[in-house]
Amino acid sequence: MARAPEPREQWSTKLGLILAMAGNAVGLGNFLRFPTQAAENGGGAFMIPYMVAMLIIAIPLMWTEWAIGRYGGARNHGTTPAIFKLLWEHPLAKYIGVLGLFIPFVVLCYYIYIESWTLGYAFFSLFGMLPHPDPSLPQDQYLKPFEEFLQDYTKPSVVAYIFFLVTVAFNGYILYRGIRGGIEKFAKIAMPTLFILALILMVRVILIETPNGTAVQGLNFLWYPDLSQLTNPKVWLAAAGQVFFTLSLGFGAIITYASYIKKDEDVVASGLSAASLNELAEVILGGSIAIPAAVAFFGVANAQAVAQSGAFNLAFVSLPAIFSNLTGGEIIGFIWFFLLFFAGATSSVAISVPIIAFLEDEFKLSRKVAVTATIVFMFLVSQVPIFMPKALDEMDFWAGTFLVVLFALLEVIIFFWIFGGERAWEEINRGGLFKVPKFYFYILKYVTPLSLFAILATWSVTKLPTILLTEDIEVWVARFIMVFILVLLLFMVFLADKRKNGENPSS
Ligand code: TRP
Ligand code: TRP
Repeated sequence: MARAPEPREQWSTKLGLILAMAGNAVGLGNFLRFPTQAAENGGGAFMIPYMVAMLIIAIPLMWTEWAIGRYGGARNHGTTPAIFKLLWEHPLAKYIGVLGLFIPFVVLCYYIYIESWTLGYAFFSLFGMLPHPDPSLPQDQYLKPFEEFLQDYTKPSVVAYIFFLVTVAFNGYILYRGIRGGIEKFAKIAMPTLFILALILMVRVILIETPNGTAVQGLNFLWYPDLSQLTNPKVWLAAAGQVFFTLSLGFGAIITYASYIKKDEDVVASGLSAASLNELAEVILGGSIAIPAAVAFFGVANAQAVAQSGAFNLAFVSLPAIFSNLTGGEIIGFIWFFLLFFAGATSSVAISVPIIAFLEDEFKLSRKVAVTATIVFMFLVSQVPIFMPKALDEMDFWAGTFLVVLFALLEVIIFFWIFGGERAWEEINRGGLFKVPKFYFYILKYVTPLSLFAILATWSVTKLPTILLTEDIEVWVARFIMVFILVLLLFMVFLADKRKNGENPSS
């Protein structure tokens, strides 16, 4: 099939690239996961392990992923099966790289469903369809209608399913329009909007005052440094997990985005800028909305329980309950959920891109065909997490928690130890607006991989046994479908590789 190779797409502007990358990173995690993790792990003191993890794990990994992606893109490959093969001439390399397709795809299949809840709730808030219980009721009775509403909605209800379809169509539309015309354009609208909405919410939340408390007490509660927590290894592990999650590391999504960067364009400063935008959204905005609102409304003692009940409960039960009781609560609730929807959508398109790029780069499918295939397959698989909540949790543990750390460890080893430390260092710094300080060379070579290994080892002892021993039909369905996806992807990588060798033995 002789066809003139079309040049790969590229980001049109540096600002667009940075906003798209920030959109990739800014997600539900910034507004929900961060504040609950901080509240549970030492408050203000959490920022110490958080900063350390940021400096020795997250920032170095981010430069690594940007550099690996740009390296691959310059050679017409945007996903890790092919890129790992370029970095490491070993028959295994391409099969290890399959994780960079498996992880984002599996996460996409449930992430997009949760994203669709935020759209549904934005709609319900705006039209005043959420419960309106009497605010003088005791806390548990006041929250109950909101809990029931969430349960009914996520059964799933027909309405939930419709919002899911709308969300899939919306994502599909952006993806169809491509990197420049879809993702970059969307990020240029969504990211500024998101920051403005978050600022409005932050200001409104600071003004909340109830007989139970004030938002300022909430800020004190969240940021009071409990230094005794610093000797607790659990706190350090939580910090490492959070920086990983919030920057979308180890998903392959950043690598694929980076493959659309021009060959010699800076990654050092751009990577840092995108990460800084994420941190702004996380620490400043994420730290000033959900928890302070919960404290002002429920009081410090009860807000503790709210934080412990988890991120989803905070988003879909506690906050709607708080907003429903404020003047203009419909609009505030709408802003909150619409903000989450934009945060989610800029992330879900990012995790869709690896599979699409794989089909385009390695099978030479057109973008439209690649997007259609990805959306259809995602839609089929997503029925599992939609109808089986325990399957969603199982998929989230394997793809969204455990394998991302393993994959990041493999990335660093392949880049810094096999491809070679000097070459990797040169690759990161090439075209850089400034040079990365030399001590990062040693961090990347030794500290980052050792830290990742330590996290994996600890989880293998603390988390794996319980997960592996779970016997539940839903869990088994999830495992079956994940193995199926993995085998399918391995087979496709095998085919792609054969095809390439047959067509052009020199590449
Ligand atoms: N970073 C996202 C958040 O903070 C979540 C996330 C993790 C993600 N990995 C991802 C989103 C990969 C998109 C792609 O919520
Ligand atoms: N488990 C995360 C928490 O404790 C939530 C989470 C994990 C999540 N993966 C996700 C949310 C992907 C959205 C998308 O908060």
